[in-house]
Amino acid sequence: MYLNNPAPLPVNSNPGMVFPPRRFSSREDAARFAARFIVGVVAHKCIVDRMALPVERATSREKGQPLCMAQYYRLLSAHRQPGRSNDQLIVREQRQHQDEHIVVMCANQMYALPVKSSDRGPVSEADLYAQLLHILGEVPSLPQAPPVGLLTSERRDVWARVKDSLSADAQNRLNLDILQGALLVLCLDTPLPTNFNCRALRSETHGHVVGDRDETNMAHQMLHGGGSTANGANRWYDKTVQIVVSSDGVCGLCYEHSPSEGVAVIQLVEDVLKKCESNLPPVQPTNHSTLTSPHRMQWVLDQNAFHSMEEAARNLDSSVEDLDFYVYRFMGYGKEFIKKCQVSPDVYIQLALQLAYYRLNRRLVATYESASTRRYLLGRVDCIRSATCEALEWVTTMCQDASGATSGAESDDDLLQTGKKVSFSLFDQQKKLDLFDMAVKKQTDVMIQNILGQGIDIHLLGLREMAKELEEPIPELFQDEVYRIANHFALSTSQVPTSLDSFMGYGPVVPDGYGASYNPKKDSIVFCLSAFNSCESTSTWKFAQSLETSLYMMQELLSKRPNNPA
Ligand code: COA
Repeated sequence: MYLNNPAPLPVNSNPGMVFPPRRFSSREDAARFAARFIVGVVAHKCIVDRMALPVERATSREKGQPLCMAQYYRLLSAHRQPGRSNDQLIVREQRQHQDEHIVVMCANQMYALPVKSSDRGPVSEADLYAQLLHILGEVPSLPQAPPVGLLTSERRDVWARVKDSLSADAQNRLNLDILQGALLVLCLDTPLPTNFNCRALRSETHGHVVGDRDETNMAHQMLHGGGSTANGANRWYDKTVQIVVSSDGVCGLCYEHSPSEGVAVIQLVEDVLKKCESNLPPVQPTNHSTLTSPHRMQWVLDQNAFHSMEEAARNLDSSVEDLDFYVYRFMGYGKEFIKKCQVSPDVYIQLALQLAYYRLNRRLVATYESASTRRYLLGRVDCIRSATCEALEWVTTMCQDASGATSGAESDDDLLQTGKKVSFSLFDQQKKLDLFDMAVKKQTDVMIQNILGQGIDIHLLGLREMAKELEEPIPELFQDEVYRIANHFALSTSQVPTSLDSFMGYGPVVPDGYGASYNPKKDSIVFCLSAFNSCESTSTWKFAQSLETSLYMMQELLSKRPNNPA
């Protein structure tokens, strides 16, 4: 799914995550947080090297089944290598006693920073703090670094060709090896301009605000750095984990998707973040550090390399320009209310997404929802297909008025202005409830089949890839128009729960589609909605409005159920 796709990684593949923002008033604050975070990551890596991570277990639907932990073991040792026909995932061997380093990027400069030595163990927080302060102090006095990181934002086949010519030089090869072997990349960023796709300036906003920056603006920084003139080149998109620490306290990450699902990444960083919160006294740099200054990586670049970087800047900037992204917090209710209605929160939100889409477009589209298959060894995800016939019947009925005519999106503004009050037509409430129950049952069945390994998509994908590997003719099924339509996921969705007030989002997977991640909280739901500005038929703003109306319509509908405990 990932390694054969030549599309550029930012926006098209790498998700972005925003951490609960912090307040930094000096570069010491940023260095202190980053040093503590890295200490937490290195401690986690020591557990990984001992193969000692506790095995997770399923919390529902055949509760207690052990879950495959392979993704967790890959996170800090993987690197995606571009290829001319397909990419490769390089995973380092895990060994307990080995040197470890990270790469720190700051204003496009790159530094290799040791974080653990095979004989003396992890570098102390005080030493890391001193090293990071050294970098932050040195960078402003250096000549502007070439934006080499931009090359990793190119189409994969293009980057593969440029990488081959860079590798002709021994120093460049060494730099590429350092990047490949790093635990992670730490990006010390400047804040994005406040007018950069900031919804806060235009509308009522919920959630965190730092200065004038709202969560949508923060999410853009994590997804693509804000383009070539901001932090877009202060990245190495091939690296699995890139931690972003911005000088204003906005922090998060960008991760390369091929080794792991978001759930494992979130688990790792939230564990580390919780430890960062603990009341340890702030570190002071030691005067007697035995460490030498971090090694600044320099590149040997010819005219062609500079030309490629200019091209990469243009391509990244147009992709950033095209991304319509919106972090939308629905504050009406959350999973507690849904559970009281005796519906699975995941199923309910999927149906809300179907209704929201239908209200805007009068049709449903192939919908992808990722379902974890980690109950199986090396399992990743299968696809819950939420656009079912049952869902279509229910949403159609929900959008009919008493005369049987369809009503819909054009009334959203009125609905929102009248205090979110949604009035129902005289159309048979019981029929709507019955159809809702049937849609819930179908969606729940499909979800359970998928997480228990009875999905269809991964099975079919396996058969198709086997035919290719065996150089047999590709079976007709895979060339059928129906197969093409069924895999044009105009709604690409995923539940991405977090335990802290952080969230993760990603771009759409087709030019005329939406990406929609959701994070159900007790009394709210955080959605990250994405689309492309170049597509006239999509708009995350309209989708969010339709979603809000849909969620209130569903609440109203369920309140009509006799003896409804909610
Ligand atoms: N009545 C009342 N409560 C119910 C219920 C019902 N009918 N059905 C479920 N619930 C409860 C569950 O017991 C659970 O309770 P808990 O919060 O106390 O544990 C809660 O509601 C949530 O369950 P549900 O909404 O059904 O979903 P889930 O948490 O089991 O998740 C998937 C379903 C498909 C999202 C999950 O199995 C999965 O595969 N997640 C991975 C997604 C992924 O890979 N994302 C990252 C992609 S990068």
